[in-house]
Amino acid sequence: MTSGGSEPARPSGAGPRVVLGVSAGIAAYKVCELLRRLTESGHDVRVVPTADALRFVGEPTWAALSGHPVSTQVWDGVAGVPHVRLGQEADLVLVAPATADLLARAAHGLADDLLTNTLLTARCPVVFAPAMHTEMWEHPATRANVETLRSRGAIVVEPASGRLTGKDTGPGRLPDPAELFEVARRVLDRGARGAELDLAGRHVVVSAGGTREPLDPVRYLGNRSSGLQGYALARTAVARGATVTLVAGNVSLPDPAGAHVVPVGTAEEMREAVLAAAGDADAVVMAAAVADFRPADYRDSKIKKASGAEPEPIRLVKNPDILAELGRERRPGQVVVGFAAETDDVLANGRDKLARKGSDLLVVNQVGADLVFGRPDNAAVILGADGTSTEVPRGAKEALADVVWDLVAERCR
Ligand code: CTP
Repeated sequence: MTSGGSEPARPSGAGPRVVLGVSAGIAAYKVCELLRRLTESGHDVRVVPTADALRFVGEPTWAALSGHPVSTQVWDGVAGVPHVRLGQEADLVLVAPATADLLARAAHGLADDLLTNTLLTARCPVVFAPAMHTEMWEHPATRANVETLRSRGAIVVEPASGRLTGKDTGPGRLPDPAELFEVARRVLDRGARGAELDLAGRHVVVSAGGTREPLDPVRYLGNRSSGLQGYALARTAVARGATVTLVAGNVSLPDPAGAHVVPVGTAEEMREAVLAAAGDADAVVMAAAVADFRPADYRDSKIKKASGAEPEPIRLVKNPDILAELGRERRPGQVVVGFAAETDDVLANGRDKLARKGSDLLVVNQVGADLVFGRPDNAAVILGADGTSTEVPRGAKEALADVVWDLVAERCR
């Protein structure tokens, strides 16, 4: 199948070259928006669907949105050797949706259409965004294919959980196009800087947000953490090739594409989720603001203000310290990172906390009414148990996240 027509010359000064592979899943319709975002932000995108993908979204749509002719097989424009050229010239190959069949063909090195040929000739980063029914995603054959692709350096982003085609729900949804676009942007950015996918094959756990400790069915003790720093850590880790579990305490931000998000409420729930995920993790980063205390007594019904009476004091009990527990009970080689929010004596308190919690790294930042919480930027000093100290000037929370991962990658064994 082809739209035919000759390929217009690539305009000089055109943006990064992206091959957008589309395989035959219904989520192909969402990829039109991803394509639009890529082209509107200056990327030069060649869409390479599989033949069956065109049953879901037709060739004219891909051709019109990309501004390039569209072909599914190797027999069009043979003089330009497209089955080799597309892959060789690409800065990024992104396959969305990647079906179970496409993952299998890619894992086994088949080359029976233009997309699989392109995957074999690409020397740039390759990202697969799988979308399929939960049973297919969880099938041992698909798991093995995903492992094979990851072990060869491809980024296979975890699908999102939620409503699938039909009435069922579960893992298998294509992540939000805006979030997939962010993955593509970050991977391209790292590629342009010559940075490696240094977390490929690693499983990292990130906690984000803040816990809420309930007092009664309508009230809780909480804190002002927005989750932005933890989400920045999760997004940047995905773009560096990691498999990411994001334990999110009361965060109202879109799920980062590729991260397995575990929502939690209280410190106890966060502890359970973090420790469960940490079992096989290479690194755990505790960016969440965990409440140190919780109300000793939870009231099953709303606390009423008896007329005229003074309010009863709230008695608090200690919550478990998750970071300290990770520090004590980590598996060999696991890198444990804490965050310290301090208002005074920032560095002295940081050094003390690093030792007390038994972490490898502690990201120390100063908090105050207008610093850190809910802001897109952050500044920090990252203290290492080995005596190192890395200053990170005020900048985007993503920039700080990247420095954290640089230091983690150095320490991962
Ligand atoms: N933390 C944790 N469990 C807790 C409290 C904190 O895992 N119950 C983690 C946080 O996620 C963070 C680090 O410990 O990575 C430091 O949090 P911070 O609130 O700064 O320190 P505290 O332990 O509360 O110490 P202090 O009250 O002395 O500041």
